[in-house]
Amino acid sequence: MTSNVIAIDGPAGSGKSTVSRHVASTLGWIMLDTGAMYRAITWAVLQAGVDPAESKRVGDIARESIIELDTQPVASSVYVNGIDVTSEIRSAEITSAVSAVSAAAEVRDLLVELQRETVRKSGHGIVVEGRDIGTVVLPDAQLKVFLTADPRTRAGRRSAELGQNSSEEELKRMQLKIEERDFKDSSREVSPLRAATDAIIIDTTDMKLDQVVQEICHLARKRYSLT
Ligand code: DC
Repeated sequence: MTSNVIAIDGPAGSGKSTVSRHVASTLGWIMLDTGAMYRAITWAVLQAGVDPAESKRVGDIARESIIELDTQPVASSVYVNGIDVTSEIRSAEITSAVSAVSAAAEVRDLLVELQRETVRKSGHGIVVEGRDIGTVVLPDAQLKVFLTADPRTRAGRRSAELGQNSSEEELKRMQLKIEERDFKDSSREVSPLRAATDAIIIDTTDMKLDQVVQEICHLARKRYSLT
């Protein structure tokens, strides 16, 4: 297994994906967006007309699906059984169903194995982002970061990401949805969202993207003696 790993965890909208992509590009490493894997299985579940709460059937779909992810930090496409689902997995429908799908133990077992295999095969270095990377997937990672930001800031970022100029009311609705998803992700029985005891916690509420990226790259250079 490559020893150059950065595990980046945190709640929805904490900036994980954007930060991870920039950190990986800056260091010349690859990256793994594990949330995209849970979204891909959710796409397959909805496509099959299965209720995301039916964990047994959800597990069957997960076992039958071939998930492929591009690990280049610039253009990472996602495929399910050869179908490009890169944009579809970001839809509101998938976003509201993904928590139920990711709570199914069988889905987690399969994806955690796939994530570890990707890390084993990564050459130079890899940034892995998700909710349980530092606690479950890669507990031995030498650098673990947990990103947070207040829910209001996270709602604003989500809105900007979607290219929306949201009204106050829409922002409040988004904030509520984010808080709901936080609650589901951190209260589920299997692999709840929480910071590993040895993670470095960075509150990004008042930080610019570039500052967060620089700080993590600095930590990585120190930890892995990179030049
Ligand atoms: O980061 P994201 O919004 O794309 O993640 C989608 C969902 O997947 C999120 O609600 C929680 C789940 N997830 C998870 O349970 N474990 C991970 N390692 C990554 C994501």
